Amino acid sequence: MPTRPAEAPLADFALLRGQDPEMAEVLAAEGERQAAGLQLIAAENFTSPAVLAALGSSLANKYAEGYPGARHHGGCELADAAERIAIERAVRVFGAGHVNVQPHSGSSAVLAAYAALLRPGDTVLAMGLPFGGHLTHGSPANFSGRWFDFVGYGVGAESGLIDYEQVRALARARRPRAIVCGSIAYPRHIDYAAFRAIADEAGAYLIADAAHPIGLVAAGAAPSPVPYADVVCATTHKVLRGPRGGMLLCGPELAERIDRAVFPFTQSGAQMHTIAAKAVAFAEAATPDFRGYAHQVVANARALAKALAAEGLLITTGGTDTHLLTADPAPLGVEGRTARGRLGAAAIVLDSCALPHGDARGLRLGTAAVTTQGMREPEMTRIAELLAAVLRGDLAAPAARREVRGLTRAFPPYPAPQG
Ligand SMILES: Cc1ncc(COP(=O)(O)O)c(C=O)c1O
Repeated sequence: MPTRPAEAPLADFALLRGQDPEMAEVLAAEGERQAAGLQLIAAENFTSPAVLAALGSSLANKYAEGYPGARHHGGCELADAAERIAIERAVRVFGAGHVNVQPHSGSSAVLAAYAALLRPGDTVLAMGLPFGGHLTHGSPANFSGRWFDFVGYGVGAESGLIDYEQVRALARARRPRAIVCGSIAYPRHIDYAAFRAIADEAGAYLIADAAHPIGLVAAGAAPSPVPYADVVCATTHKVLRGPRGGMLLCGPELAERIDRAVFPFTQSGAQMHTIAAKAVAFAEAATPDFRGYAHQVVANARALAKALAAEGLLITTGGTDTHLLTADPAPLGVEGRTARGRLGAAAIVLDSCALPHGDARGLRLGTAAVTTQGMREPEMTRIAELLAAVLRGDLAAPAARREVRGLTRAFPPYPAPQG
């Protein structure tokens, strides 16, 4: 095994290159791919070097089943310190009574929320998958659709908006044990108070799956579900800009059930390096810089929606309140899946998504990553121009990639340190 100077950082890329050039090559190429292209996937972001340092730290080696002060392994004093810091910071950032920072992912958080509140066979009301519900909101291919009786609500075919009267009518008719609000593609703020009122009337739990907007919530750039939902499920790697992972927020009365639902019911060893990195991200999220960032994410998404509409794309709901927007590229003569492929070849990376009207697919775009890079409204206009030129066939992939590279070179995700 190669030796390493004592002061060298643990995550040492030069050492990896010497030991395993094949994998180092893949990782370096992925870094270059991310920096060279426009990363418009609404669920992605660039974490800070400090978050990456925590991910590559000694806690990657530590087993720590259980919770601080009650572990199933020895040597957990510092793992406990890391988890306590993460919890305290999250409680402060989100104003929640209790936070569990152990879920390995957003899906694990949702699984644990269901485990805490539901029994197999219970009826659950959630946004239907064709309208933007997540896999964990009742997909037949997912545990949720197999183990629970999901009823889907939709969005208006023309408006693209949640029809709260439809949700209320379904809740009255089906008497669900839980109602889930949250989506992978809803561009507008969710009316959590309306969902709370519907859940109370139906005697149902309210579960907010805030995987997408939770970073905006941290910065006050989107309304918080915390005062309304019994349990909030979230990811830490989207707008929040932390490591890949999940978390759960709830009031003190559900704290013990939520904790037991995570460990030992659905997970065992917590990923302590990720928990340390979550703590770093929570501290970042509490800064004025992050507040400014999150508000700029929304301003950029609005600017991008406006510029794409000016290029002829149809923007669902006519705009956005958040970091994401969905658009139908049909007026430019191309369907969503084909558009995604064509744009990918041009290094404009985004997702296709369902649209509220009809079967054709659209495009989902998010501004979290490009905003981290420092791009603002003028760059959003340029992105829309490039995107539309590629879709119209006015700009071939190699030329488009050159244009994109010109833009991204001015906004590196990880600028070299000055001096
Ligand atoms: C609404 C919603 N719930 C859950 C998840 C699952 O998160 P993960 O991919 O971390 O399991 C996502 C991911 O995009 C999501 O958008």
